[in-house]
Amino acid sequence: IKKIGVLTSGGDAPGMNAAVRAVVRTALSKGVDVYGVWDGYLGLHQNRIEQLARHDVSDLINRGGTFLGSARFPEFKEESVRREAIENMRQHGMEALVVIGGDGSYMGAKRLTEMGFPCIGLPGTIDNDVAGTDFTIGFHTALNTVLDAIDRLRDTCSSHHRIAIVEIMGRYCGDLTIMASIGSGAEFTIVPEKGFDEESLIQTVADDVTAGKKHSIIAITEHVTDVSALAKRIEARTGLETRATILGHIQRGGVPCAFDRVLASQMGSYAVELLSQGVGGRCVGIQSNKLVHHDIVDAIENMPRPFKQDLYDLTSLLA
Ligand code: F6P
Repeated sequence: IKKIGVLTSGGDAPGMNAAVRAVVRTALSKGVDVYGVWDGYLGLHQNRIEQLARHDVSDLINRGGTFLGSARFPEFKEESVRREAIENMRQHGMEALVVIGGDGSYMGAKRLTEMGFPCIGLPGTIDNDVAGTDFTIGFHTALNTVLDAIDRLRDTCSSHHRIAIVEIMGRYCGDLTIMASIGSGAEFTIVPEKGFDEESLIQTVADDVTAGKKHSIIAITEHVTDVSALAKRIEARTGLETRATILGHIQRGGVPCAFDRVLASQMGSYAVELLSQGVGGRCVGIQSNKLVHHDIVDAIENMPRPFKQDLYDLTSLLA
C-alpha cells in the first residue's frame, strides 16, 4: 500500500488530533503517503483532500477538537454520493482510508468497504458507545470534564442547600453518566439503559429531604427527560430549591487527557500497521488492555455492548 487517507467524522472528541498524528507519522515511517480529508465525509464527497506532511501534525497532540474538521453528513447514506467519494479518493491514488469517529462514522466506513474501498475505523467519541472496544478516544477527557463540573456544582449546592440535576452527554449510552456519578459521588444516577421511573425518583429524593438531607446531585444522561421540568417537580414536592444544569458541548472540548493521547496514538499507529499488512475492513479497539481489531461489519451488526451493571450498582451502593 502506498497512499492512504484519514478523516475525522461525527461529533469531535479530544484525542482525535493525536490519532491523526499517529496515522501520519507511522505511515510516513513506512514510506506510505497520507492524505487528510477536511470535514469528514462531507469533504470526501466535495474532494477537499490534501497530502499531509510530517510537520502538518506538529503541535497537535495536546490540542482538543480535530484540526481536520468534522461534520455530520447524512447524505453519505446514498450510494451515488459514496461512489463519487470513492472516485475522488482514487483520483488521488488513495488505496485505503482511516476513519476516526463514532458508530455513524463506522457505518460509512462499512459501506465504503463493502463497495471495495477498504477502511479501518478508529473509535473517536466522548459517548463510549462503539462496539468492539472497552474505551473510545475522548471518553476519559470528557469524564474528567464532567467530574470537574459536578465538583463545582456540589460546592454551590451544599452552600445553598439545593438539589442539582446534571444532564450529561452520551446519546443513548449511560457510560459517561455512570462513571461520572461514581467519581463525583452523585446521589442519584439515571441512564437510558435502565429506564426512568420519575415518581420513584421524586419519592426517594423527598424521603431523603425528610430524613434531613440538605443537598443532592442527580446525574442523568441526555434525552431521558426534560431536566428543567423535572427540577420544578422535585422542588414542588421537596420544598428544596432544585436547579438543572445541562453541561452540553463543554463536554466535547478541551485538552485531551493522558489516557486519550496514549490510546489515540496507539490506535492510530495500529491502524496503519494493519493496512500495511494488507488488512482492511476492520475496526480497532482496546479490550482488556490489549489492542484488538474486528471485522467492521460484524462489529456494527452483531457485537453487543454489555451494560456496565457492576458500575451502575456501585453508583447507588456508594451514594
Ligand atoms: O456523539 C457525541 C455527542 O456529543 C453526543 O453526546 C450528543 O448527543 C451529540 O454528539 C450532539 O451532537 P451535536 O454536536 O451535533 O449537537
